[in-house]
Amino acid sequence: MVVRVGFLGAGLIAHHHARSLARAGDRVRFVDCFDPDRDRAEGFAAAYGGGVATLVDEIIDAADAVFVCTWTAAHTPLVRAVADAGRAVFCEKPLAVNLAEATTMVEHVLRSGVINQVGLVLRRSPAFRWVAGTLARSGAEVGPVMSIVFRDDQYIPNQGLYDSTWRVEVAKGGSGTLLEHSIHDLDLIRWLMGPVESVSGRTANFHGYDGIEDLAHVQLNGPSGATASLISIWHDLLQRPSQRRVEVFCRRGYFHIEGDWHGPVSYDIGGRTGSLAGEALTAAAAELDGETDNPSVAFIDAVAAGRPAHPDFSVALEAHRLCDAAYRSAAAGGCPIDVD
Ligand SMILES: NC(=O)c1ccc[n+]([C@@H]2O[C@H](COP(=O)([O-])OP(=O)(O)OC[C@H]3O[C@@H](n4cnc5c(N)ncnc54)[C@H](O)[C@@H]3O)[C@@H](O)[C@H]2O)c1
Repeated sequence: MVVRVGFLGAGLIAHHHARSLARAGDRVRFVDCFDPDRDRAEGFAAAYGGGVATLVDEIIDAADAVFVCTWTAAHTPLVRAVADAGRAVFCEKPLAVNLAEATTMVEHVLRSGVINQVGLVLRRSPAFRWVAGTLARSGAEVGPVMSIVFRDDQYIPNQGLYDSTWRVEVAKGGSGTLLEHSIHDLDLIRWLMGPVESVSGRTANFHGYDGIEDLAHVQLNGPSGATASLISIWHDLLQRPSQRRVEVFCRRGYFHIEGDWHGPVSYDIGGRTGSLAGEALTAAAAELDGETDNPSVAFIDAVAAGRPAHPDFSVALEAHRLCDAAYRSAAAGGCPIDVD
């Protein structure tokens, strides 16, 4: 089956998906794209084929699957329109500007029954897949996860590669580094550590953009006593675009992720030590889970096969719940908040 793909929003991440879809070859055909910024829409169409639509409905009518790649506040009405038309939908993360809106959107999409996937792309990173897969396969050897120390820093993305004013406008982005960037990290922590019972958080705003925190420190507590600590920072060091450093401590195992896609990942599995990176890491992750590292193609393949895609909207909603609990805790001075 050739999957006809439409794009709503023709900015940075839309280009990224379009380039990734090249790996699907002639299994994909681009239909028109829509972006109120006409120059962007024309540039996108010129690069990947298809044309420029003047109405969102033209794209939805012509497509089997639609990528919603607008700034965050515009996701909800577009996702609803795509789902109402019965088309498969890929929505970028975060799903929405707050938990209430994300919840309503997810309920709507699940009721519609369309194939859905969210841009929590690190679920497809060889580094995280290898650690998650090894924890699952070697559980008895390494013992349970006791603690995760997760540090994520990037330059504030109204400059550099991102160059977007909306990321420092609360009406369009919702809030700052925790929602816009570290929703990935909250999802990864839940994936690696397991269920989260309570969350406490502190936020700060050094840059002074209204409602846009540029520092978040979150502690997540699991029912077993396991804890995770997340520090998410937006600074002005343009030479540090996005750096994640993650340590996972188990009773008899340790993992250290330094590059969030290609590694290196160093490990100690019950005394067996080593390090993996690049192609060796990609191959080792695929051997464990048989999955691809290309989220855009994975979505298209799910659509072509008529099967559920992953990670889907319900996975994203769990990350939104953690994010919301952290913000509520921060607003209350950092006290622990139970996660419903
Ligand atoms: N998965 C990831 O790792 C990742 C990385 C970057 C961005 N994102 C997410 O992708 C989304 C877009 O980010 P970006 O970096 O591409 O931003 P961007 O500013 O480069 O592009 C956003 C585009 O959306 C367009 N737009 C706004 N309202 C629209 C509407 N109603 N219909 C159609 N187009 C509309 C804008 O004109 C703009 O061109 C955000 O939600 C962001 O958080 C995810």
